[in-house]
Order: sequence, then C-alpha cells, then structure tokens
Amino acid sequence: MLSKEMEEALNKQINAELYSAYLYLAMAAYFESINLSGFANWMTIQTQEELTHAKKFYDFVYERGGRVVLGAIDAPPKSWDSPLAAFEGAYEHECKVSAMINDLVNLALKEKDHATNNFLQWFVSEQVEEEASADAVVQKLKLIGDHGNGIFMLDRELGQRVFHAPGTAGE
Ligand code: FEO
Repeated sequence: MLSKEMEEALNKQINAELYSAYLYLAMAAYFESINLSGFANWMTIQTQEELTHAKKFYDFVYERGGRVVLGAIDAPPKSWDSPLAAFEGAYEHECKVSAMINDLVNLALKEKDHATNNFLQWFVSEQVEEEASADAVVQKLKLIGDHGNGIFMLDRELGQRVFHAPGTAGE
C-alpha cells in the first residue's frame, strides 16, 4: 500500500513523464519543420520511450493499491534556435528528471517503502542512459559546428534509431 504522500509524488511523476513525451514531440515537430527528419525520428522514439515511462508509473500505482489522477500537461516550447539548442534543452530536461527520480527514492527510503524503492531503481539506471544519450548528441553537434555536411551525416545516423520497449534488448 502506498502512503498518500507517495501516491501524490508518483502521480506527479506520471505528469512529468507525459510532459517529457510532449516536449520531445515538440522537438520532433521542430526538426521536421527544418527538414531534419533523422533528428525528428530520434525525438519521436524518445517520445515513445517517455510514454512507456509514464505507463510504468501508472501500472505501479495501481499494483500498489493507489489511484492515478491525471493533471494538465504544460505546453512545451514551440521552437529552438538550432539543433544544438534543442539537444541541450533535452539534456537539461533529463538532468531535471533525474533529480525528480532521486527525490522519489529519498521519499521511499524515508518511508521505508522498499517496494517503491526497488521499482524506482530501474529509473535510476534509465536516467543514466537518458542523460548520456542526449549529451552524446550535444557533443557531436558541438564538434560539427556549422558544417552542413556533418549535420547531414548526423541526421542519417539519428534516423536509424529504433524503438525498443523497456525490458527488451537494445533498450
Ligand atoms: Fe522518462 Fe527521459 O525520462
């Protein structure tokens, strides 16, 4: 059974994961608008991943006898100044999400809620990957600078990303 405080915190995290999906979909739309379909593909896959994160929290709340209550999702930004600015935004966002997950773990430990702590450990590992994968693109974009050819090649690379449901190979 979840405490009321934990139930509310997990509901807040469902909202944050859905906002993440919305943010990355907005970034996908931005990349489509500047004809970088590979970058858009990367962001679309990221959107799908965020939806699975939200669903994991949703299922867990019910599994533990809680109640999911969905709130309004904030509107994401409409545009970014450059591909680098968008990926820097993605990286910063993931760092914020990591901090939220850490806060949830702290709450679980405070409440001696070992089941929730155990559940959250998947997200602790996932956030390491989430930060690293966004930062990897940031670093490549910094190296490329304004070279159109490099952007074109990176667009092809990012276009090859495919979606793997959590818990499957290549996650
Ligand atoms: Fe659900 Fe990108 O963290």
